[in-house]
Amino acid sequence: MSSQVRVTDLLRKKDQNEKIVVVTAYDYTFARLVDVAGVDVILVGDSLGTVIQGCATTLPVTLEEMIYHTRAVVRGAKQALVIADMPFMSYQLGPKEALAAAGRVMKETGAAGVKLEGGESAAQTIRAIVQAGIPVMAHAGLQPQSVHQLGGYRVQGRSEDDAVQVLRDAVAVEEAGAFSVVLEGVTAELAAGITERLSIPTIGIGAGAACSGQVLVLYDLLGLTHLEPEKYPKFVRRYAEGAKGVVDAVRRFGDDVRKGVFPAAEQTYFAGPRRVNS
Ligand code: KIV
Repeated sequence: MSSQVRVTDLLRKKDQNEKIVVVTAYDYTFARLVDVAGVDVILVGDSLGTVIQGCATTLPVTLEEMIYHTRAVVRGAKQALVIADMPFMSYQLGPKEALAAAGRVMKETGAAGVKLEGGESAAQTIRAIVQAGIPVMAHAGLQPQSVHQLGGYRVQGRSEDDAVQVLRDAVAVEEAGAFSVVLEGVTAELAAGITERLSIPTIGIGAGAACSGQVLVLYDLLGLTHLEPEKYPKFVRRYAEGAKGVVDAVRRFGDDVRKGVFPAAEQTYFAGPRRVNS
């Protein structure tokens, strides 16, 4: 049995060229399963706003909701490092408010650190949180909480100027003390350059293969998000067809109930003395 993953293990993995495996989870059951599967990090992403709550963006997610979901995930994670996303407007007001919110996440959930979006503009906030002893995973490139400003979920860093800004953001969060940085929706070439340049690990999502690790939203990886394959973003690989599996299983349950063949004797408690499990 391997031991509890720590922030320092991720830095060591980067140094030793070992890839880091990150998935999202939002509840106890999935946290337990991905933990058994041996992921390094479970990210309680604010993507729960879209995948769990059915919102169009992550913006409506609250700090209370992040705390609620992170608590459940922490109960299921025995080895993986659990990192909780800071939701929109829980850290943008300034370092003091951000530190208070990050402190609540740490005290009330048992997570090992927090993640927040932003580069140069978030550096001061990251520094304040790190100085309080709270590990911060930063998030640069495509930042979903800024979707309205970005004009949609677009790949970042395609132009020279944009690429320079994403690099500056990544350098700024490292200098501010972040222990890793998610690079979302950036070209493979840019992500490779940033990974080379930084000492902290880069965790890619739609950022090519050169990153120090990869993260996927669990429901995408399991094929649970959509029934139609064409609806998944290009960067997702599905390792199961979960949506079809769920629909099929529930349909079969419905058919059995309607036909009167569920429950059968095996699923039934009887009063007779010779039955076990009764
Ligand atoms: O919210 C989230 O799940 C994320 C990951 C996709 C990186 O930020």
